[in-house]
Amino acid sequence: MTAQQTELRVLPSDLKRELLPRHVAVIMDGNGRWARHRGLPRIMGHKRGVDALKALLRTCDDWGIESLTAYAFSTENWKRPAEEVDFLMSLFQVVLRQELRDMMKENVRIKFAGNLKALPPSLQEEIQKAMEETQNNRGIQFTVATNYGGREEILSACRAIAQQVKDGLLEPDEIDEEVFERHLYTAGIEDPDLLIRTSGEMRISNFLLWQIAYTEIYVTDVFWPDFDRNQFHQALSSYQQRSRRFGKI
Ligand code: IPE
Ligand code: IPE
Ligand code: MG
Repeated sequence: MTAQQTELRVLPSDLKRELLPRHVAVIMDGNGRWARHRGLPRIMGHKRGVDALKALLRTCDDWGIESLTAYAFSTENWKRPAEEVDFLMSLFQVVLRQELRDMMKENVRIKFAGNLKALPPSLQEEIQKAMEETQNNRGIQFTVATNYGGREEILSACRAIAQQVKDGLLEPDEIDEEVFERHLYTAGIEDPDLLIRTSGEMRISNFLLWQIAYTEIYVTDVFWPDFDRNQFHQALSSYQQRSRRFGKI
């Protein structure tokens, strides 16, 4: 590794290690617009978006961030043209197969959050394999929200809890935040400290509705494929200026 490459791997000196977010979540938006601005088909934007995500995972790992969650496909994204949906599903599968070895080498623990049963069976197999193989890794926790919808997640938790009550395993009074969280797709993963959305849209688009109750939000106009280490540095600088009060004074 060259001296310059080594330097890129350390936390920039103006960022304070003790004030880093432990968990960063990203709404990777703007792939289509990135491509359109270049006169390219939308799928090229998605391909470049994968590169941006790989780079961010590496940066998070280098800089000591414990957990990264990326919104890859929402429950509403099925409403896109079939060719785009099909392309995305095969892209996820190809990338997952290609990257598994590197994720093992880099000790990444990958998890998928969402209604996975509705995904193509061959993708489900690849997902299961990746989650099983990496489950004992102790490096960064990498969560990919795929066929994820916050409302659907909350409803499916409600259904599972209602069933437990019906079966006499749980009293209604025992349903608290801890019980509820155990039934979310993100069970066992701490809430995000920082949520980044690219491409300027000031909305949540059904992402992590329960989990972002006290998350700091950062929106940048940059399209997702252009979101690089410098952009992430800016997001972290902004985060480090915030005063997180959690309702206190
Ligand atoms: C985000 O980019 C990727 C997915 C939703 C899968 P978009 O595809 O939404 O890009 P824009 O918003 O149309 O530019
Ligand atoms: C949110 O982006 C979903 C993902 C990034 C996977 P969208 O492009 O689907 O969101 P809207 O439609 O602009 O709200
Ligand atoms: Mg979009």
